[in-house]
Amino acid sequence: MTSQINTIIARQNDISVGNAVALNLPKFDSYAMCNLRGGIGKTSLSFNISFLTDNLLAVDTCPQGNLSYFYDNNYYQNVSTTVNDMLLPYFFNGLGRASRVAQNISATNPFFRGKNSFFMPSSSELYTLPSQMANAVAGANQLTGPQKVTVIDTLLYSLKTEILREKQETGTDKVIIDTSPFFSGCTHLAWHAVDALVVPVRTDKQSINSLSLLLKTLSNPSSEFRRVMPADQHAPKIQMIVLTGCGWTTRAGARNEPNQQTKVFLEEVRDIVSRNIAHFTTANPDNHIVLSDDYLGSGRMSSALSKPIALMNPGDSARINRIKTDVNPSVDKIKNQLNHIAQNLW
Ligand SMILES: Nc1ncnc2c1ncn2[C@@H]1O[C@H](COP(=O)(O)OP(=O)(O)O)[C@@H](O)[C@H]1O
Ligand SMILES: [Mg+2]
Repeated sequence: MTSQINTIIARQNDISVGNAVALNLPKFDSYAMCNLRGGIGKTSLSFNISFLTDNLLAVDTCPQGNLSYFYDNNYYQNVSTTVNDMLLPYFFNGLGRASRVAQNISATNPFFRGKNSFFMPSSSELYTLPSQMANAVAGANQLTGPQKVTVIDTLLYSLKTEILREKQETGTDKVIIDTSPFFSGCTHLAWHAVDALVVPVRTDKQSINSLSLLLKTLSNPSSEFRRVMPADQHAPKIQMIVLTGCGWTTRAGARNEPNQQTKVFLEEVRDIVSRNIAHFTTANPDNHIVLSDDYLGSGRMSSALSKPIALMNPGDSARINRIKTDVNPSVDKIKNQLNHIAQNLW
């Protein structure tokens, strides 16, 4: 069993020390950061990867709005046009279409100065999108013939259509969509809006269960995703699974070798990937799993200051809620891991 994870483990040291390691992956324009569980790194990865990419449109579809807050600390007071405003006209007759939802990130997050990257803010109103979507799809199912196909396609591709328009208006060419832990509603639309998924999986049992649930949703003919499909049967493939919160052996001379607990989860994840390889962007399971460290203090500081980890160095410190927080020495490793992820997406 262990030999099956050797390839993944062997390259992990090169990744961590910053020797470029190209995975054998095709490149796409658009990705959704997705797993059906909260607190596993979707938003942190979306934010940090967005900083490593230029001409990017980041789309926040999680009603909690954490990614929007990273980009704009006034987000929760703001009255800007949101992803929800953009989608509602597709689900309610008579509402006018929204335009130019995307905002330049550098206008509200100075760390992004000089980048031509934009974000589309979320809204807590997205919590009610699933029922509105279900009503609209039920209505469309009453129709027959080509009209039904057209109406269903318009609904399912609503987010994609709007993102394409915003890309043109902002001059961006890459897209990352951060999603909520729930499939119904915007995550469903995100799957139709992107070419491929990036799936964070924390090294715990529940995250592995949610990976299995995600794969079932992607593949099972009776799943919410498969029950109503667009005419072209579009489904995203998985580009990458990012194992978050990995631990490493402290044995002298061990060069970034995962500890026993991380190895157990890695084996389990690799096994799931190989059994579901048809849903990945290549036929080789080893191409699709990368390990990433627990962010520790760097993650806390990144969240508190809305600062990309790429701009942090060992020894940096800040007071967060009156508690001194330090950037841990492993931040250089984390930066290299983040670069590796970004370089294998675009
Ligand atoms: N390797 C890692 N990748 C992403 N997040 C990590 C990692 N290690 C620790 N974390 C921390 O885990 C938390 C994940 O939260 P978040 O990104 O908001 O999750 P989600 O969006 O999936 O709900 C953050 O506090 C982040 O700093
Ligand atoms: Mg999140």
